[in-house]
Amino acid sequence: MVPPISVVADRLLAPSASRRRAAARDLADLSAPWRTKRQLARLGAVKRYPHESFRFAVLGDAEPGRFWVWRKLFNQPGVFETQVRRAQSEACDFTVQLGDMVSRGTEENYLAFFEALSSWEVSTPYLSVIGNHDRRFPHGTTDSQTYRSCFGPVNYAFDRGGWRFVSLDTSAHRVTASQLRWLDRVLDTPQRTAVFTHIPPAVLREWTDYGGARGVGGFKEGALELTDLLSRRGVARVYLGHIHAFGVQDYKGVRYVLSGGGGSPLFPCGVKDVFHHYLVVEAGPDGIRETVRCADGRSLSIPQARIVLSRA
Ligand SMILES: [Fe+2]
Repeated sequence: MVPPISVVADRLLAPSASRRRAAARDLADLSAPWRTKRQLARLGAVKRYPHESFRFAVLGDAEPGRFWVWRKLFNQPGVFETQVRRAQSEACDFTVQLGDMVSRGTEENYLAFFEALSSWEVSTPYLSVIGNHDRRFPHGTTDSQTYRSCFGPVNYAFDRGGWRFVSLDTSAHRVTASQLRWLDRVLDTPQRTAVFTHIPPAVLREWTDYGGARGVGGFKEGALELTDLLSRRGVARVYLGHIHAFGVQDYKGVRYVLSGGGGSPLFPCGVKDVFHHYLVVEAGPDGIRETVRCADGRSLSIPQARIVLSRA
């Protein structure tokens, strides 16, 4: 007797489905220690008071390039690992990665990422922002299910010292009305505030204009509303990735720091300062200031005075 077609299909698909289930179990086990909730619990175990200063590290894009040609032409393997390891020696309370950890948000890519991260002797709490590449596909309508299953919520906030830090999801190239309402509530605090997000709002045109096209490097939906909200709430800093470069812009009273040089390929872009780096940030009762640690060993401090950048 010939088995029904559905049974044949199930048999053909069984190994693949089995492998997927096994990969999902492995990923759940491997990612569990890195969940944001657990990392924040580790961070909270050592208190900081409002009169204290403390440090944290900011690391930008890490994904190695989605297509082999880009990887071949522009990628330098090992830069992200080197910078993650180097940041461990900076006496930082925590590290924030600004998104695009993997080229595509598949189980296989996250498994490889967590296997690597677990072998790098990361001693400080590791927090992240979701980037567009961390979703199932980096562009268009696509889900963020695997990222959320590994890390948890994509919009979250936490307090440390006299500061409130916010991680905001711009990975779908937008900020929604409900996100803006949530952000407005979270930023309604007497504490100083800083925001981490992946994609720059398109209105930061020094970074988002490219090849004569306005704002293509940033997101447009909700961009004006977001920047107006950040100004109205007097946010001290916004840290951004997505563009593999470094930059500083003061826009409507808020300082935006672009730090997309975590280790991803250094593609040509409309920004002049293209190099691998991470930030060491000192936050305290007197404000916030950053030192840029370049991958070539140089360091530079970001001036506190208003900054006007030139284009590439
Ligand atoms: Fe990105």
